[in-house]
Amino acid sequence: MALITNVATTPKGDVLVIFGITGDLARVMTFRSLYRLEQRGMLECPVVGVAVDDWTVDQLIDRARTSIIATGETLDEEVFGRLAARLSYVQGDFLDAETYRRVGAAIAAAKLPVFYLEIPPGLFATVVKGLSEAGLTTHGRVVVEKPFGHDLASARALAAELHRYIDESRLYRIDHYLGKMGLEEILYLRFANTMLEPVWNRNYVDSVQITMAEEFGIADRGHFYDPVGALRDVVVNHLMQVVAAVAMEAPAHGDPQTLKDAQLSLFRAVDEADPKHYVRGQFDGYHDVAGVAAGSTTETFCALRLEIENWRWSGVPFFIRAGKELPVTATEVRLIFKEPPKLGFGLRDTTSQPDQLVIRLDPSTGVRIALNARRADAPLPRPIDLDAVFAEAGGEAPTPYEVLLFAAMAGISPRFVRQDSVEEMWRVMQPLIDAPPPVRAYAPGTWGPPEADTIVEHHGGWRGPWT
Ligand code: BG6
Repeated sequence: MALITNVATTPKGDVLVIFGITGDLARVMTFRSLYRLEQRGMLECPVVGVAVDDWTVDQLIDRARTSIIATGETLDEEVFGRLAARLSYVQGDFLDAETYRRVGAAIAAAKLPVFYLEIPPGLFATVVKGLSEAGLTTHGRVVVEKPFGHDLASARALAAELHRYIDESRLYRIDHYLGKMGLEEILYLRFANTMLEPVWNRNYVDSVQITMAEEFGIADRGHFYDPVGALRDVVVNHLMQVVAAVAMEAPAHGDPQTLKDAQLSLFRAVDEADPKHYVRGQFDGYHDVAGVAAGSTTETFCALRLEIENWRWSGVPFFIRAGKELPVTATEVRLIFKEPPKLGFGLRDTTSQPDQLVIRLDPSTGVRIALNARRADAPLPRPIDLDAVFAEAGGEAPTPYEVLLFAAMAGISPRFVRQDSVEEMWRVMQPLIDAPPPVRAYAPGTWGPPEADTIVEHHGGWRGPWT
């Protein structure tokens, strides 16, 4: 894993304490990530699970084993044995001060504990307060999962509450998109290539399209999803991280502060989104999903336009669309370049496409450059794709949670979201939350409601994704 930051000088966590280890996220993500880190020799400390369930450590080890196998991983007993030997369990109610005393006793030898809260956000403050009152946060880090509020005001309130007990520099907010082809990897691509940087601006780029398409629906997540919707679920966090990575200036240094300041500066340049350029959709059948309120108008699809007012991007719209029950599962960002002049020798016809550069994040990472060339099968230039799938060049990448758990232990803070960015992302989206347009129906397996096309109508329509 490449690292932007001076890891050598950042102290490593020496115990990982996971609150909510008996829950769903641990079952689906955490055990597998820990196992894979163990396999790579990157897990170096004890792991203490904390939850209210009355479990023994053997039950925890059993849960770890079945969870890892259920993710499709082939279990290597020797690796699993090493992971199991790291595990211990503290039972306790998160409201009870005694729980934190027991946690303190279990990690008495640790100098820099990392507390990972895989618990509902409503409990963050309770647990952080409990840890703080037990004197456990003085040197530790606290890692929390999204959501970070449900609008600007609640995001500020949540942070104010957490900051009573822990300093921002030791609060690591997970956005798992920062563990994918995240900020770091996109910055490397943009700025390690002299060929790319000079054209990466409004002189050459007509528009930028970001698509996050999911073929699946809400499944059993109705209770979670219905009060949230597509904009809050994936745009205000994940896709804004992608916007920042694609649009920000190169940081002058790799230290966390400089890097995050450069990102913040980009967010500050993004205008508040305009509800006139916002389309919301809901797939037919959404109301039948368990947990969805009768008559719910929650969007399962959204399309919107952002403007960035700075020298690099002024006049280049950033279009975002995201939705469930779409035709494919794919996430990408696509730079669409300006049209070349026609000249007099038939350089273009009605089927010609402008050049495009695609960074694919899902289902696997890669880069495509779509150019035009005279091919044997046509008298005029036709598109040719230059594709690089990173797994074929550099091997399989670690999964986002491996990257992030490792980063939390190693103190690689740029992999996490700073509060000032959280607030900027909400500021940009707040007008859409305050004045949402009516939700439009779409059939599962289509690209959202037809109204979504109006968002990009003067820029050649939606393109891609590369699948
Ligand atoms: C989560 C959202 O944060 O990200 C989900 O809550 C979404 O609704 C998921 O499906 C997408 O993540 P990934 O890594 O599967 O693309």
